[in-house]
Amino acid sequence: MTEQLDLGNVVDITKSQNWAQLGVSDLEKAVEYHNRMYWVENNAVISDEDFDKLVEALRTKAPDSPILDAIGPEGAGAFAPDGVKVTHEPPMLSLDKCYDEDTLMKWFGKFDGEVVVTPKVDGVAACIRYSSRGDLVQGATRGNGTVGEDITENVKRIMNLPLTVSDGPMEVRGEAYMPLDVFRSKFEGEYSSPRNLTAGAMKQKDPEKTRNFEIHFYAYDVIGREFESESEKMQFLIDHGFTPVDPKIVHVDGLQAAYDEILDQREELNYDTDGVVYKVNSIEEQQRMGLTAHHPRFAIAYKFQGESGQSTLREVHWSVSRTGAINPVAVVDPVDLSGASVTRASLHNLSIMEKLGGDEGLRLNSKVLMVRRGGVIPHLEKVVEPGDIPVELPEACPFCGAETYREGDVLMAHHTDDCRGSRMRQIEHFTQVMEIKGFGPKVIETLYETELVTEPADFFTLTSEELQTLDRVGEKLADRLIDAIDGKREVDAHIFLRALGIDELGSHVSKILTQRYDNIEDLIAITRDELASIHTIGDVIADKVTEGFEKRRQDILDLTKHVSLRFPTPGDDNSDGELGGKKFLFTGALESMSRKDAQKKVQALGGETPSGVTKDLDYLVIGDADLEKFEGGWRTGKLKKAEKYNEDGGNIKIIGETQFMGLIGE
Ligand code: IVH
Repeated sequence: MTEQLDLGNVVDITKSQNWAQLGVSDLEKAVEYHNRMYWVENNAVISDEDFDKLVEALRTKAPDSPILDAIGPEGAGAFAPDGVKVTHEPPMLSLDKCYDEDTLMKWFGKFDGEVVVTPKVDGVAACIRYSSRGDLVQGATRGNGTVGEDITENVKRIMNLPLTVSDGPMEVRGEAYMPLDVFRSKFEGEYSSPRNLTAGAMKQKDPEKTRNFEIHFYAYDVIGREFESESEKMQFLIDHGFTPVDPKIVHVDGLQAAYDEILDQREELNYDTDGVVYKVNSIEEQQRMGLTAHHPRFAIAYKFQGESGQSTLREVHWSVSRTGAINPVAVVDPVDLSGASVTRASLHNLSIMEKLGGDEGLRLNSKVLMVRRGGVIPHLEKVVEPGDIPVELPEACPFCGAETYREGDVLMAHHTDDCRGSRMRQIEHFTQVMEIKGFGPKVIETLYETELVTEPADFFTLTSEELQTLDRVGEKLADRLIDAIDGKREVDAHIFLRALGIDELGSHVSKILTQRYDNIEDLIAITRDELASIHTIGDVIADKVTEGFEKRRQDILDLTKHVSLRFPTPGDDNSDGELGGKKFLFTGALESMSRKDAQKKVQALGGETPSGVTKDLDYLVIGDADLEKFEGGWRTGKLKKAEKYNEDGGNIKIIGETQFMGLIGE
């Protein structure tokens, strides 16, 4: 096995001889995890043989497990269409966490007020939005915290969520979960954990099926209202028909006791819980403490033991990622974490490794705290006691020997043209930008090793029979992959250019080029000086792009034998349409159409629809009801931001929906 693959050996649950001892839920987690790592992520963790053994272990224990039907790229979500995106404003943050009383007490420091303590529900975070009329109009997953996915129809099937509230608009945030009595009576033994089922239920394509999972919702936050304390917020939630997580108010000297109490009751609770959440009760105090980009400073989760354990850092290995970065992986003494022996964990990148080490830098023989994130993925949480030997950075790429250098947060190298690491990355970039679904890094690696695909053009001559010679690829899947390729035999020229992965040939330059030329031969023959003479294109870009065209000329021409390119016709560019490049942002609920439709209308008239408030925004459009409230002093984050920019010389017009309709002539 290659170093790159080997490195993915992060979960020793897979290697360990004790699969037979693992419960169904852990086995399912492991199968799901490795299936995803294989098909979607760049971290194929175990050999095919080991994977088969793991699947067999699950099959023996739970022959009807639905996870067995979800093996392959479809189960891993490789073909899943991207859902409708929903922006979170303010972002849905995470929680800071700790694993012992000492850290908890240090965290509270000299704080001397009331703290709200709630069990940490092990479910799926979601936000629910109500319109100014009080109707439930949108539900979304947390996603990456800033952008989640629309699951409106599914949240409407949550058992204990009000479909209307008396005084909208408002947004309520909380945790969707499956009650344990539901899990036990309907799913246990046959299905994976309640948490996994909740995630599945929230993403059902047929929302009616969501009902069958009897998902409930614990609310913990309200956006768009002001409160003096968390207690008041909880009461507000109750008054509006929500169920908040059962809160306890304690003083700082009662923090550990509150944890112990919840730990004691854990068995009797009707939901899975993986820790205790502490929140400063006073909102004024919360505002004083503020937020980081990741978590509020006024809250912390004290996680239950068992998922964490101490170990010793013995080595750091280095792997080439798909972006060309050379990233560190920690190798630690085996430590038992919720039933699995863990010996490796990705340290993600150079800068994260450095931060872990503090001022001294990360050292071998450090005592470290290991956890399994999300209950599965091993993670080096922190250094408990520094070791004695500094970790050395590699001077060369482990694949091609190119010299390494630092670039921002990562260690980089100018990989040679035949560096396996970088060639595979180029192919991967091509499939990603072209959106050829189903070709994750692991498949690409296998195709590369078997020499079926050594450059992008090879995709277009692949046959289903060839694909079926690969491990884990049957006829149905092979046909599906071929369909995915066939769907890309005609693409927009600018996307094709970007997919080439030529340095500095990004979206902007690609679009400029495709607007100037109407065929690929002339386009790639552009001279350096001609390119550099274009406004917004500097010398460096011109050099890199023309060098890239020269070097890849044959590749490109080979590719265009299989892919026909759509060049824009003059009418396509409507930046001088009626709304001539004007920028519109929609916020809150509109009455007459969805925000998406409104955006489409703007784009059709030559306007732009950026995703956030910036100084050069022209219009911030809100619903008429919101406009009325705005005039009465009500503000959301976006409105405040727009006003702030206007104070600083911006000219953002805040308009209502009716006015907007007038602007677009409707
Ligand atoms: S308070 C910044 N209380 O845990 C968010 N969160 O790890 C503060 N969670 O995404 C939320 N139970 O979805 C809070 N009793 C509880 C919770 C809880 C579960 C989730 C929440 C958040 C995640 C952070």
